[in-house]
Amino acid sequence: MKRAALTLAAVALSACFALPLLKASTTGILYEQRAACASSANKRDGDEATNANYVSGARSDDPPEQSIPADDRGPVTSDINDSDEFFQSAIRTPAPARDHSKAIEALLKQMTLEEKVGQMTQLQIGMISTGKDQNIRIDAAKLEKAIGRYGVGSILNVQDQALPLDRWHDIVGRIQEAAQRTRLKIPVIYGIDSIHGANYVQGSTLFPQEIGMAATWNPELMKRAEEITASETRAAGIPWSFSPVLDIGRQPLWPRFYETFGEDPYLAKVMGVAFVRGMEGTDVSSPDHVASCLKHYMGYSFPLSGRDRTPAWIPENDLREYFLPTFAAAVKAGAHTVMVNSAEINGIPGHVNRHILTDILRDELGFKGFVVSDWEDIKKLVNVWRVAATEKDATRMAVMAGIDMSMVPSDYSFSDNLIALVKEGTVPQSRIDEAVRRILKVKFELGLFDNPMPNPALKSKVGLPESRPTSLQAAHESMTLLKNTNNLLPLSKNQKVLVTGPTADSLISLNNGWTYVWQGSEESLYPKDRPTIRRAIETKIGAANVTYVPGTTIMRRQGSPSNNTPTNLEAEVDIAAAARAARSADVVVLCLGEGSYTETPGNIPDLTLGEPQRKLAEAIEATGKPVVLVLVEGRPRIVNQIADAAGAVLMAYNPGNEGGQAVADVLFGDFNPSGKLPFTYPRTPNGLMTYDHKAFENETFDNAGFSPQFEFGQGLSFTTFAYSDLRLSDKTISGNADLGVSVTVTNSGRRAGKEVVQLYVSDLVASLSPAGKRLKRFAKVYLESGQSRTLTFKLRREDLSFIGADNRAVVEPGDFEVTIGGLKERFTLK
Ligand code: BGC
Repeated sequence: MKRAALTLAAVALSACFALPLLKASTTGILYEQRAACASSANKRDGDEATNANYVSGARSDDPPEQSIPADDRGPVTSDINDSDEFFQSAIRTPAPARDHSKAIEALLKQMTLEEKVGQMTQLQIGMISTGKDQNIRIDAAKLEKAIGRYGVGSILNVQDQALPLDRWHDIVGRIQEAAQRTRLKIPVIYGIDSIHGANYVQGSTLFPQEIGMAATWNPELMKRAEEITASETRAAGIPWSFSPVLDIGRQPLWPRFYETFGEDPYLAKVMGVAFVRGMEGTDVSSPDHVASCLKHYMGYSFPLSGRDRTPAWIPENDLREYFLPTFAAAVKAGAHTVMVNSAEINGIPGHVNRHILTDILRDELGFKGFVVSDWEDIKKLVNVWRVAATEKDATRMAVMAGIDMSMVPSDYSFSDNLIALVKEGTVPQSRIDEAVRRILKVKFELGLFDNPMPNPALKSKVGLPESRPTSLQAAHESMTLLKNTNNLLPLSKNQKVLVTGPTADSLISLNNGWTYVWQGSEESLYPKDRPTIRRAIETKIGAANVTYVPGTTIMRRQGSPSNNTPTNLEAEVDIAAAARAARSADVVVLCLGEGSYTETPGNIPDLTLGEPQRKLAEAIEATGKPVVLVLVEGRPRIVNQIADAAGAVLMAYNPGNEGGQAVADVLFGDFNPSGKLPFTYPRTPNGLMTYDHKAFENETFDNAGFSPQFEFGQGLSFTTFAYSDLRLSDKTISGNADLGVSVTVTNSGRRAGKEVVQLYVSDLVASLSPAGKRLKRFAKVYLESGQSRTLTFKLRREDLSFIGADNRAVVEPGDFEVTIGGLKERFTLK
């Protein structure tokens, strides 16, 4: 049981932009040779950083390093030259599949009210089974009641553990056989949370959680990861995943922060569309793809208190500015289903918000799939939110607001209530038909009417050895080097290393929640052949060079059920022994962070790192030995003094089962990091500001300004990148003209590496006080030492818009500034 009840105008570059020459390099990578351009663009900004070269990354006097061989970069080698180019191609909705409308109407005509309401009902697997964990068995009588008598249209979840493929085939097969025995033989749609891989299928390929995927800034890699996830989910006979999470991570306390693509709506929108395209493919009925579910629509991620499922206050213009774009883009990309915000905004629970569920989702965005509630959320309208006195009334309110399917999921109340409501005339038959039409459409498009049974031929697709390098690449590219004083990293392999800290030897921390069980806390289910950070370091430099002393632990409460208990109890183990070991080591790898958690069990009252870990860090740093701080965590825990004292800081997020290897590869220089932080890392528990705060918020009076620990978009490399020649196609644009922006980025260090080029726009004066800057484009390119690329972007008029006080997008004439890699240029919009 999951829980008990619970482009420039060509780019029209001005004359100085001679077309770049395309050349094939020896490694097969295309690169552009820069054409010389003598004239410099006008500058209007006085003392600001201008087109002087700007260098990011490590010092340029680095010791010579070997280039990374192309093979070490992983299977997804294509560069992202322009995020917009990727986005425009990925969002393209595939040609319409077969038109099923006649078949759907014919079916609807034959269906009784009971059969229709059955289709709108989703139950959890415990409602048709007995036993739990690996002993779960279908219960024939319960199955007959659900599918035969109630005509239930959907089943979800695990009870409580990830299952082997054969068990999934048996379970899903038995369910579909029961559906085939019903009068109209309507197949059941099974749904599951494939959050970071097919995490409820044993032996599947797991990837970094979304926050780590965001840190890669590599949507091509995101897409590929979801192709693998979809294929492994479908191989289990399951055609529907409750992912991606498209909530925006602007509240770091929220226990689902790691499930998001971070704080920026543009980065999240590009990654979200990549996710959907990878998962759904261009033909969702194919045996390699599944339907996605955009969740949790919308505003769920921004509770004022930081606690899960507590109130948020978000004015509609902000909702549209920050929280809607990911959903709008993914709907355009053709996503088949949407799951609702399980909390409330402005006093209105997500599940009764007709404005959001119908006016915006259907009328504005044109969403054609179906909307599923979240877990028990119609009941919660009564017993949590208290906007309805009875469950029957709650059912009416939710269905009339736009819920098409209810994740009830543990009784038959929804069906009984809805049938009564239609009979009484309080819910019109037309609303039922509308919901059922949408559900049947998705079932037809998934090919379930052609063949609902799990396909034994797909069994060989789970956990393929060739999928693992993609997972390792994702973990590698997510690694974000936040500090590297005096090039402490990469470490030499001939040193004595102390590995310490509660996340050093833990696959649980590397994965976090939604891993084999809901809270990720069941150690026995983790693969034995994947190295933790400690083990990967031992293998790399020899066990004789490594001392491991945990110092502290993070455990699950003893005797507590592994499924619904987070791994969050911290305790000291042997801090004194760790400090002693540090004194005889050359360097300390201090692995701190979090255990595993999600949803409400992951609530915390304070972002400050647990006390045992603070004590351990203090004792280690007091030895004066060089410290590399590795953070394995799903949200930014406050580490100010620890990070300030450390020589290097590597942010690992929750990188999945290949994460131990990825961390070790970066620490010892076998992989050159390229990750960039997808959120602002706060320095203090109350210093919660995003990068796109208003410019006036920087004012300090020496104490109160914007002073995060680490900034959004930050991330070092073992090489250096120099930016030059930022040019705009025009200084003044009008009407619908595009603005071309180009910049040259050069690998000015001695080692090959990838750089994320970030383009920000600042609206200097606006009718609603403007953000200081907003991310509008990015690129991620691989550059050999000494190689230069000129990248060209095209900003469209809509990129200069914001949501005005009337909740509509508005573009206001005036001055704007473009910033890339520390270079700035201004233009005027007429
Ligand atoms: C979560 C959803 C999840 C659903 C089914 C809910 O509690 O909020 O994200 O998809 O459970 O497991």
